[in-house]
Amino acid sequence: MNKICSQAPGKIILFGEHFVVKGCPALVTAVNLYAKTCIEERIDSKHYLYSKQLNKRVDLDSDQTDEWATSFRTIYRIISEQYGKPEGFNAILDSEIPMAAGMGSSAATAVSFTHALLSFIGYKPNKERVNKIAFEAEKIVHVKPSGVDNTIAVYGGLIYYKKGEIKQLNIEWPEKYSLIVVNTGIKRNTGLVVKEVLEGYNRNPEIMEKIYEAASLITEKALEHLMNKNYERLGELININHGLLVAIGVSILETELLVHKLLSLGALGAKISGAGRGGIVYGLVKREQVGEMIRTIKDMGYNAYGLQPVKEGVREI
Ligand code: MEV
Repeated sequence: MNKICSQAPGKIILFGEHFVVKGCPALVTAVNLYAKTCIEERIDSKHYLYSKQLNKRVDLDSDQTDEWATSFRTIYRIISEQYGKPEGFNAILDSEIPMAAGMGSSAATAVSFTHALLSFIGYKPNKERVNKIAFEAEKIVHVKPSGVDNTIAVYGGLIYYKKGEIKQLNIEWPEKYSLIVVNTGIKRNTGLVVKEVLEGYNRNPEIMEKIYEAASLITEKALEHLMNKNYERLGELININHGLLVAIGVSILETELLVHKLLSLGALGAKISGAGRGGIVYGLVKREQVGEMIRTIKDMGYNAYGLQPVKEGVREI
């Protein structure tokens, strides 16, 4: 029986979320948490989608309007239109990336589904094609996505992203440093937060222009510090970037608490990553500090992970 599985990595936006929506650059890394889709042939001609995490099933050919399935329906429709309707299948989604937290779980799942479905119908998926289809799905789910989330899930590694242009950076992540990610556990809708941030921009365009300009400079400088392996200075920029995220209104009490906790425990820098209003914060830390910091944060009742950047993007497994 024909069965294909693909996986795609989650991500941490190191610099530039939200600002990237209006064309500023972002620096983003893939991390070692994955979303997986397995597609197996059915003996009939039905097309079912299962989510292990949500414990839900939908028929992709029906008109049900389950919000969680919207992007997968879009991908299924695009692929069916372009390549013909696939044989009957069950697609099983399984992800270790926390959902709606800012780590790219929806984009990574959509990318793994696109990759697996193209392979299932006998088309050797190239990354550009997968990215294009997954971006169409992101556009349906989110109001105005920048495309950064699907791009990092497709290409992996460390990426400088600006207006759809991708620069894959050949930078070895240093052994000595790690990223600690803490999940506030507060879920939010990325599209809605992006919409409200854009409304805020439109209310105060002259001020926002300056903030967005500063955000671009931070990302450019951060790239230089990464290249020169200047991690103390990188940490400083992480903190300034967080300040700008506060200024555009995406920080809440819990994210402030966790950013300051990470800094007081010795992180070189800490900020919100992703859409904010909950979701995750990350800290740049020395590797030897990871164990102790995670224990302290877990004692406060939060989920925390020590993550490493990974090079590989979407692939068949
Ligand atoms: C969400 O992971 C990142 C945002 O910048 C939205 C986007 O880039 O589409 C908030």
